[in-house]
Amino acid sequence: MKTPVLGLEGKVAIVTGAAAGLGRAFAGALAGHGARVAALDRDRGGIEATIEESHRGAGAKIVPYEVDVTSSAQVDATIRKVLDSFGQIDIVVNNVGIYPITPFMDISEELFDRVLSVNLRSVYLVCRAVIPHMVTRRYGRIVNIATTGFYRPGPGQAHYAASKGGVIGLSRALAAEFGNSGITVNCVAPGLTMTATVEEAYPEARIVELVRARAISRRENVEDVVGAVLFLCSDLSAFMTGQTVVVDGGRIMS
Ligand SMILES: NC(=O)c1ccc[n+]([C@@H]2O[C@H](COP(=O)([O-])OP(=O)(O)OC[C@H]3O[C@@H](n4cnc5c(N)ncnc54)[C@H](O)[C@@H]3O)[C@@H](O)[C@H]2O)c1
Repeated sequence: MKTPVLGLEGKVAIVTGAAAGLGRAFAGALAGHGARVAALDRDRGGIEATIEESHRGAGAKIVPYEVDVTSSAQVDATIRKVLDSFGQIDIVVNNVGIYPITPFMDISEELFDRVLSVNLRSVYLVCRAVIPHMVTRRYGRIVNIATTGFYRPGPGQAHYAASKGGVIGLSRALAAEFGNSGITVNCVAPGLTMTATVEEAYPEARIVELVRARAISRRENVEDVVGAVLFLCSDLSAFMTGQTVVVDGGRIMS
């Protein structure tokens, strides 16, 4: 049997949180494999930097969309604009997320709601806006970014772990509901990955401790996570849905 290749040429992909870190890497990698990418983020300058970086690698087109993904009006309007420009949406990578470290008793109601809104409500809003189109075309690949912090949360991650548990639950439910409509919905759960936000937020001692706990004892970089996302965006994973793929150098083994 001939093994199919990724086959992302000409596909249209949405990546949320594409102005930095993992989202920037996913957008660049999808474009590098020939997908046309709508890069959604509230940080316009950051998306421009993503585009510049990707163009140096001679990838396909990345188009910026400045949007707060917690706003249903902004999400709906953006998805309409993407459909008007590209004519179709094949792939969605729901990557936006925030991960403040807060001792449980210090989590205010506002902060709890904010983390749930950015990390979970955004996935609901984007999926709600895109799925009717995917159902009509009987094709869709949805990849939601979770975290190993759901399986093995550290102190100060109650709001974050709850939000990403919600993402995994939502993904499984959508996988079940739309499996016969040609849509797969999976998650990728990275371990602690060296993005600028992590480097700012995590003390070096904690990073070293997490690295030591891995079977592959080194720092995880954004490039380490890209392969799993590309695979789940492609037809190589056509018979996989409702799954969470852990990419963490073998710290969590389930
Ligand atoms: N870096 C890690 O260690 C790690 C580990 C596991 C999971 N994750 C998950 O991966 C994802 C990306 O993490 P990262 O480290 O690359 O983050 P990051 O902070 O580098 O980038 C997040 C991006 O999301 C954007 N964003 C935030 N709120 C937004 C909103 N309301 N509307 C639009 N855009 C918004 C930011 O502007 C930024 O560009 C998150 O979901 C995170 O939970 C990260």
